Amino acid sequence: MENKLKRREFVSATSMAGAGLTLGFPNISFGAGPDTIKPAVLGGPKAYAGLFPAWPVINQLDEKAMSDALQSKKWCRLGSKKVDLFEDEYKKLNGSKHCLATSSGTSALLTLMGALDIGPGDEVIIPVYTFIATYNAVVLNYALPVFVDTDIESFQIDANKIEAAITKQTKVIMPVHIGGSPADLDHILKIGARSKIPVIEDACQAHLAEWRGKKVGNFGLAGAFSFQASKNLNSGEGGAILTNDDKFAQICYSFHNQGQAGRETGYNPGTGTRGTNVRLTEFQGSLLVSQMSRVVEQTNRRTENAGYLTKILKEIPGITPAKLYEGTTRSAYHLYMFRYDKNHFAGLSRNKFLDALTKEGIPCSNGYGMMNKEEYVTGLAKNRHYLNIYGERTMNQWLERNQCPQNDLLTQEQSVWFFQNMLLGAKTDMDQIASAILKIQKHAAVIGKL
Ligand SMILES: Cc1ncc(COP(=O)(O)O)c(C=O)c1O
Repeated sequence: MENKLKRREFVSATSMAGAGLTLGFPNISFGAGPDTIKPAVLGGPKAYAGLFPAWPVINQLDEKAMSDALQSKKWCRLGSKKVDLFEDEYKKLNGSKHCLATSSGTSALLTLMGALDIGPGDEVIIPVYTFIATYNAVVLNYALPVFVDTDIESFQIDANKIEAAITKQTKVIMPVHIGGSPADLDHILKIGARSKIPVIEDACQAHLAEWRGKKVGNFGLAGAFSFQASKNLNSGEGGAILTNDDKFAQICYSFHNQGQAGRETGYNPGTGTRGTNVRLTEFQGSLLVSQMSRVVEQTNRRTENAGYLTKILKEIPGITPAKLYEGTTRSAYHLYMFRYDKNHFAGLSRNKFLDALTKEGIPCSNGYGMMNKEEYVTGLAKNRHYLNIYGERTMNQWLERNQCPQNDLLTQEQSVWFFQNMLLGAKTDMDQIASAILKIQKHAAVIGKL
């Protein structure tokens, strides 16, 4: 059980730690204590003067991997071995039957949409709180993306609101494990089974996250992963699909390889089905194999630091770490997400809080916004192709259906992110994050006047 430290004890522990005393959280240091030390935004010293661990992490193994790929003179996956090897290792790591590497997370999603033959007239349910790629994968197929509001406590799709978004046109339910924490899979899978609509997991941020002891990406018909530079497993660009369905794996392989038949059948131009080229290169496959040699250790470290950070942050009034659903046995912590309540910070706005935190040496972000209200998205209702396919009435109804009030609240006033690399350092880094927040809280009224 987590150690429930009262706020008063916490503040006292932290300020005394600066005087060299060993209490509940011995590593939090304020020097002379939070009352007297000025925040950096007011000209005081930074709470965190160091640098968080750099990303990516590389060593000689990666250099050898790149050199091996170069020297092999086989740079395309067809007829080569390195992407095959990566797929083999990634599927084993995740306990999946099949893995297909793709050129990006977006192309993994596009392959899944293609393999399911999603097209004009179809609807796909997605969370509003996600990266734009989830939306684009639907829109590039001229299907209608239907947003579901956010569970403000978890930052995940609100599974209670999915059923109301289903219509006769719904062809896919696509939850996203945002920040690397699993969406409420039990609930979502039940809805999928009841309505006979396939669930596709956008696990692009969720490498090695687990739900009831099993890796995400294994629950729906398939899961999509990204290896873009910021991700917890990185080859600059890259992606993968995991599935346990033999036939679907074949269809995906074929789609990603110009619609040519499966792995065994080889390339036969002029035959096959609808498809494209989203193959991963041998360079990326080779790099992913070497990067994967440390992904478990890195994930463990993030889990440990994030657990500790949650323990100390939840003692600060006005700071609420994102809830993990009961079925979560591991978050990948691609993002560390929490809610900020200005009422506990003398009315200091979220954005001023972020600015003050950044000046303390703590990188942070307000995260995603109101995707359903962005011009690019609302403009879909006026897109000539969409008007041709769906008509003005349906598109206007679509705009009305896309209201997400909880997401508005979360994104405009409350959400804060830290990034995965910040969780790769020492436990004392977590203490410094908490110290910085406490310092800002103490001086919030003055900071608000800046
Ligand atoms: C939730 C989500 N889906 C899809 C993607 C797309 O992945 P990629 O950038 O590899 O195309 C990302 C990448 O940031 C993502 O975060």
